[in-house]
Amino acid sequence: MRILVTGGAGFIGSHLTDTFLANGDEVTVLDDLSRGRPGRLDPSIALHKVSITEVDALRSVVEQVRPELICHLAAQIDVRVSVDSPADDAAINVVGTVNVLEAARAAGARVLFASTGGAIYGVDVPVPSSEDDRPGPEAPYGTAKYCAEQYLGLYNRLHGTTHAALRLANVYGPRQDPTGEAGVVGIFCGRALHGDRPTVFGDGGQTRDYVYVGDVAAAFLAAARTGRPGVWNIGTSRETSVLELIDLVGKAAGRDVSPEFAPARPGEVQRSALAVERARNDLGWTARTGLADGVGEVYRWIESGSPDRAGR
Ligand SMILES: NC(=O)c1ccc[n+]([C@@H]2O[C@H](COP(=O)([O-])OP(=O)(O)OC[C@H]3O[C@@H](n4cnc5c(N)ncnc54)[C@H](O)[C@@H]3O)[C@@H](O)[C@H]2O)c1
Repeated sequence: MRILVTGGAGFIGSHLTDTFLANGDEVTVLDDLSRGRPGRLDPSIALHKVSITEVDALRSVVEQVRPELICHLAAQIDVRVSVDSPADDAAINVVGTVNVLEAARAAGARVLFASTGGAIYGVDVPVPSSEDDRPGPEAPYGTAKYCAEQYLGLYNRLHGTTHAALRLANVYGPRQDPTGEAGVVGIFCGRALHGDRPTVFGDGGQTRDYVYVGDVAAAFLAAARTGRPGVWNIGTSRETSVLELIDLVGKAAGRDVSPEFAPARPGEVQRSALAVERARNDLGWTARTGLADGVGEVYRWIESGSPDRAGR
C-alpha cells in the first residue's frame, strides 16, 4: 500500500513507519518537525516538512504522494498546553484534522486517526472504559480529539468513506520524549538510571493503562488491513498504579527505587484503563508486550544513550 504518515517523525509515528516498511508498504512522512526528528526515520523514507495547518502545502504533498491510506498522527499532544491555549490546540487537532480529511477526500485516501483513550473518557465512566461509554473529556486536548473523531464519522456518512479512529491508551516505549501523555515511563527510568528519586504526585495510587509502542504500531497495521470504519480502544484493559510502575522500573534497574511524594495535581484523573474486546473481535489485535518487558526495553534504551533509531 502507498501510505502517508502525518506526524511520522514523532515517537509513535516513527515506529509505525518502521512497521509499514517491514510489511512491504511504501511510506512517506509529513511532519512539521515541531517535536519530530528526521533521525528517527529509516533513511529510505521521504520526509515533507509541512504543517497540517498549511492547506495548500498539505494538499500538494497528498497530490504528489497519492496515498491509499493516510495515518494521521500529527497533533498538539500536550494536555497542559491545550488547557493554556485551547484555540491553538483546536487549530491543529480539530481544523488540522479537517484539512487532512479534505486532502484525503481529494486523493480518495482512507484515514486512520490517532485518537486518545486516556484523555477522552473522563471520570464518570466504568473502568476499564469501552467505546460504548460516553466520552466526557476533562481538557481541551481530549475534546479536540473527540471532535475530530466526529468529523471522521461525518465524512463516512456524507462521503461514504471508511475512515477509522484508534483510541490509544498511555503509549510508552523507546524514542519517547519524556513529556506528553505517557512520558512517565521514560522519566522514571531516566531518574532511576541516574540514581535520582522519581517524584510522585499524590499517593501514587492513580492508575493508567500502559500500552507498548510496538503493539500500537501492530494495531494500526491491523486496522489498515481490515479496511473497515470503526472506533477502537487500543490498550491492555489493565490498570497499573504509579507505585506499581516504580516497582517495575526498580526491577529493570536492578535496585530499589523509592519515590518522593508531592501534592496531588488538581484535575488529574484517578483511574484509567481501556476495554479492548472490540479491537480483539474486529481487528484480531491484542497487546502482546507485558509491562515488565516494555519497561525493561525503555530502561535499556535510555541506558544506551536514547538513540533516535533504537527500539523495536
Ligand atoms: N503518546 C501517547 O501516549 C498517546 C496517547 C494517545 C494518543 N496519542 C496520539 O498519537 C499521536 C502521536 O503521538 P506521539 O506520542 O508520537 O507524539 P509526538 O509529539 O512524538 O508526535 C507528534 C508528531 O506530530 C508532529 N506535529 C505536531 N504538530 C504538527 C503539525 N501542525 N503539522 C505536522 N506535524 C505536526 C510533531 O512534530 C511530532 O513529530 C498524536 O496524535 C497523539 O495525540 C498519543
